[in-house]
Amino acid sequence: MTYTLLFATSNADKVREMRGLLSAIPFTIITLAEIGLEIDVEEPYTTFAENAAHKASVYAAAAHIPALADDSGLIIDAMPDELGVYSARFCGYSTPYPARFQKIAEKLAAIPEEKRTARYWCALALHIPQTGKVYLTEGSIEGMIVLEPRGVYGFGYDPIFYIPEFHATLAELTPEIKAQISHRGVAAFKMAEILRNPEILG
Ligand code: IMP
Repeated sequence: MTYTLLFATSNADKVREMRGLLSAIPFTIITLAEIGLEIDVEEPYTTFAENAAHKASVYAAAAHIPALADDSGLIIDAMPDELGVYSARFCGYSTPYPARFQKIAEKLAAIPEEKRTARYWCALALHIPQTGKVYLTEGSIEGMIVLEPRGVYGFGYDPIFYIPEFHATLAELTPEIKAQISHRGVAAFKMAEILRNPEILG
């Protein structure tokens, strides 16, 4: 038996990654674009978990099917108030990433290299309208910010997110490797455990 799960995001990069990450579950993943659901949902909270739960609940109520939402972002320790849950909005939603990298490089130029620490964080929330329950999983990955972008894979801030263990930025690692180590990969692995049990549908 296959069930339907709405992945409630308009971010095509997240859709591509999540389809790969959640391929072995008894749910067919559909997107907002595929069902023509166009509602603007705010991200009003200061934690990824609260924003993800909010998005999942609003979309599940609108679509009347289980909804999964991702709230994620880049936390740069030397710029504590600027990215994080506001990563998509940093410099303005429509600002191209190369311009954002430049802004970050200007801010970090005065910071010693070893203090350019950062992490990606991902919260996934699953809202089941049949039961009213919300399931939450989270994942993170530690790294350093480099001032020169490198690599062609991934999306968003990946070209400046360097992982010392791999001697590479996330944009230099293939999607298969990113899936195994990334914040979204870790959160999705835990969510897949929950989604493998259709009893959650009530
Ligand atoms: P939101 O979850 O829609 O608020 O947006 C998350 C934002 O964080 C994205 O638009 C990216 O700027 C950034 N982000 C989250 N995950 C990743 C990732 O895996 N790679 C690169 N950037 C990411």
